[in-house]
Amino acid sequence: MPALEVRSLSKHFGDVKAVKDISFSVNQGEFFGLLGPNGAGKTTTIRMIIGVLKPDAGSVLIEGVDLGKNYFEAKSKIGAIPEVGNIYPDLSARENIDLVGRFYGLSKSLRQERAEKLLSDLGLKDRGDDLARKFSKGMRQRVSIACALVNEPPILILDEPTEGLDVMSRRLIIDKVKEMNQKGSTVILTTHNIEEANRLCQRVCIINKGAIVAIDSPERLRRTAEKMQIVEVGFNKKIDAAWFSSELITRLVQCGEKWQFYTEDPDKAIDHIVKVKDRMDLKITSIGTSGPTLEDVFVKLCEVP
Ligand SMILES: Nc1ncnc2c1ncn2[C@@H]1O[C@H](COP(=O)(O)OP(=O)(O)O)[C@@H](O)[C@H]1O
Ligand SMILES: [Mg+2]
Repeated sequence: MPALEVRSLSKHFGDVKAVKDISFSVNQGEFFGLLGPNGAGKTTTIRMIIGVLKPDAGSVLIEGVDLGKNYFEAKSKIGAIPEVGNIYPDLSARENIDLVGRFYGLSKSLRQERAEKLLSDLGLKDRGDDLARKFSKGMRQRVSIACALVNEPPILILDEPTEGLDVMSRRLIIDKVKEMNQKGSTVILTTHNIEEANRLCQRVCIINKGAIVAIDSPERLRRTAEKMQIVEVGFNKKIDAAWFSSELITRLVQCGEKWQFYTEDPDKAIDHIVKVKDRMDLKITSIGTSGPTLEDVFVKLCEVP
């Protein structure tokens, strides 16, 4: 059974069709990214998934439980971090976490144990008794994350959790989310940060203007979007581009000290390069391949200017 199944979700606000017939499913234990430019419909989709916004059409199943029909059962399986954190400023960090734990019916000792671990993991060990209102944005977001994790939900849903945060908060939050994922939690994260999606997510769903434009692993998205690969080679001596001419090499350009061989078949191209270097008595000082980045794919699919 998938951790999350989204079926034909749609939502409009007046004339704005924010989400248009979106369907996808997320496997148990997966780290799944919803990637798209600002205004793509990510937050609207997430708000429908966590049950704070009623869809015009479609349904959401959380571990097979229909959110529209069995709201509380479905909701208890998710820990959600909204785009704007929602902690109580007049409670301390520890009290905020404890309150959510109580809401989920956890025993006092379990609440205490988990709160201490979360505060420590999120770098708030010495600040647990300070009022949340005194915290920086990054610290507040860390408390918000701790609140979402206190019932150890099997599914974590985060809307741009590190947007606009300091490096330290970003690192602590990402590490904690990664740890939860490694322990088996399913993670669904929205971001407009391509690098973050590329680094963290096993699969990425790219959405633009309220519709899905692609769903796949970052690696496969890169490969399918562009067949051309680049083999970049450094040599110990000056070379003549004509030595390497072959139908395998579409283009050969010098880039600083290195040469970039454009090819659709890097495997055969490398064989060819090695043969020529032996014949010309050259030595290879460095070699690497690169293809299009996830950013190239994103720009192409979302027509970002
Ligand atoms: N509550 C709302 N009222 C009116 N329009 C909204 C509302 N929420 C979102 N929108 C519009 O829906 C579209 C998608 O927004 P959103 O889901 O927030 O995008 P993202 O999170 O990808 O940046 C945008 O055009 C936005 O202006
Ligand atoms: Mg958003």
